[in-house]
Amino acid sequence: MKKALLLISLMTLGLISYGQSSVSLLVDGANSQYTISRHIYGHFSEHLGRCIYDGYWVSESMPVPKKDRIRLDVVEALKKIKIPNLRWPGGCFADEYHWRDGIGPRNQRPTMINTNWGNVTEDNSFGTHEFLELCDLIGAEPFIVGNVGSGTVEELSKWVEYVNYDGISPMTNMRKQNGKEKPWGVTFWGIGNENWGCGGNMTPEYYSTQYRQYSSFAKNYPGTPLSKVACGPNSGDYKWTDVLMQSVATGRGGVWGIDFHYYTRPPRGNMGQGAPQGARPAGQQGQQNAPVQSQGSATNFTEQTYFATMRNAFRMEEYIIKHDSVMTKYDPQKRVALVVGEWGIWTDPEPGTNPRFLFQQNSLRDALIAGTHLNIFNNHCDRVKMAQLAQTINVLQAVILTEGTKMILTPTYHVFDLYKVHHDAKMIPVKFVSPDYILDDQRLPALNVSASQDSSGTVHITLVNIDPNKSITLSTTLNQIKWSTVTGEILTSAKITDINTFDKPETVKIAGFNGARKNGDLLNVVLPSKSVVLLTIK
Ligand code: AHR
Repeated sequence: MKKALLLISLMTLGLISYGQSSVSLLVDGANSQYTISRHIYGHFSEHLGRCIYDGYWVSESMPVPKKDRIRLDVVEALKKIKIPNLRWPGGCFADEYHWRDGIGPRNQRPTMINTNWGNVTEDNSFGTHEFLELCDLIGAEPFIVGNVGSGTVEELSKWVEYVNYDGISPMTNMRKQNGKEKPWGVTFWGIGNENWGCGGNMTPEYYSTQYRQYSSFAKNYPGTPLSKVACGPNSGDYKWTDVLMQSVATGRGGVWGIDFHYYTRPPRGNMGQGAPQGARPAGQQGQQNAPVQSQGSATNFTEQTYFATMRNAFRMEEYIIKHDSVMTKYDPQKRVALVVGEWGIWTDPEPGTNPRFLFQQNSLRDALIAGTHLNIFNNHCDRVKMAQLAQTINVLQAVILTEGTKMILTPTYHVFDLYKVHHDAKMIPVKFVSPDYILDDQRLPALNVSASQDSSGTVHITLVNIDPNKSITLSTTLNQIKWSTVTGEILTSAKITDINTFDKPETVKIAGFNGARKNGDLLNVVLPSKSVVLLTIK
C-alpha cells in the first residue's frame, strides 16, 4: 500500500514516467549531404518592450559590468551559446525606423514614438553604432532590416553606404565624424519586415516590385557583397512565396533569402482544435490599437493546452516543406534560402506587465518547442539556412530575462547551449517511425531527432521526447559511423510548467545523462519523458 502511494506521488510529481514506448532509429552516415548553417541558430532583437532598453542597453548608473551602456553579463551569456547572428531593429519597428535619427551625439538625437509597441518614446540612444558594437562584443554577425514601409530607397541606400563604404563619400565622412574610421562590412540586409502586415499592408505583387527597386540601390561595396533578404510569407501564405519567388528569384539585384515568420500560439479554447492558431491575419499584428488577444498563459496551462500548443509548433515543419516546394519551382538548386526570421512561442504577457511589451516567462514546454524547431531546421538545412528566435531578452520566447541587476537563463537558453554543436556540421539523416504521444484519443509524434557530424568526426544527436508521461527506449543503428563511446547531457524537470525565476534560477538546467549505452554496434538509449537530450558519439 505504502509502495503504491509512493508510486502515485512520484508519478503526480512527474518524477517518474507512466510507461514506455520503443523505437528503432537509423542514423544514416552514408547519406550525409548538407551542412547545417550556424546561422540557423540566430536571434532577433527589436526595439520592443525591455529587449533593447533595459535589456542589453541599461542606464549609466546601473551597477552591472558594462561597456558604454551595454550589459556585459548578457554579452557573456550570449557568447557562451555562440549566437551567430542578430536581427535588428525589428520587426514592425524596422518599418518606422529612420536610421539617421540614431547616429551622432546622443543628446542631439531626435525622439520618436514607438507606435507598434506601447507608444513609448524612443530616444534613439541605441542606434547603428551601438548595435554594431553589441554584435562585435558578442561575436555575432549583424542582420540589419531596412525600412521599406515608411522609408525611402535613398534612406536604405545611404545606410548601406554609411555602414559598408571605405572610399571618399559623404556617408563615409559622416561615419568618421561619428567616431568610426573603418566600415563595419555588414553582409545581411533585410529589405523590409512583414510588408504583408505592419510593414505596409502590401500585396505580394506590390512588395515584389518594391523589393526589386530597394535592393537595386543597396550596393555591394568593395569587400562586402550583400546577402539580401526579402520579406517572406506569413505562416501558410503560399501565394506570397509564389509571387515573390517568381519576381525576385529570377530578377536582377539578387536575393539571398526570403524571410518567413511563424509563431507557435497556445490554443485560445481548451484544446484549440480546428484552424491553425499560429497564423495571423496580415496587417493586424503589431498594430497599436489592435486588441491584445488572449493566447494562454506562459506558466499556467493544462496538459490539454500543452498538447494543442505542441500541435501548433509542429506546423512549422509542414510550412517549411510547402514553402520549399513552391520555392523549388523557381529555384530547383536551392540557391535562395528560406530564412525563418521570427519563430517561437507567443503567450500572454506576464500579469502586471505592459501588454504591448510582450514579456513572458519561459517553461520546460518552451524548451521542448525550441528543441523541436531546431531539429526541424537542421533536418531541412538544404533550404533553411538561417533563422532567428524571437526575441533574445525579456520579449516573447527569450533566452535571457532581466530584472534590475539580476539576470536569469531560461530553459530555452539551455537548448541553444546544447545544440550549438550542430553549428556548421554535416547533417546526418535519421530515419524512424515515432511512437505516439496520445491524449484524449489524439496523437502527436512523441519523438523528434536530428544528427550531425562535426569537422573532427564527432557525431551529435539531439533528441526531444515531448510526451510528458512516457519515456522512450531507442535502439539505434549508426550506419557507416565508427564509434566507441557515447556521453550525454539532458534538459528536463519535474513538470512541463517548470520555469526559472529570479529566486530559483536553476530549476530547469542541463545535467549529465547516463541513459545511453553502447551495446555491440547498437546505441541503446532510454529517453526520459519531457526531455531534450544531446548525445556525443566518438
Ligand atoms: O516579434 C514581435 C512582432 O511579431 C514583430 O515586430 C513582427 O515582425 C511580428 O509580427
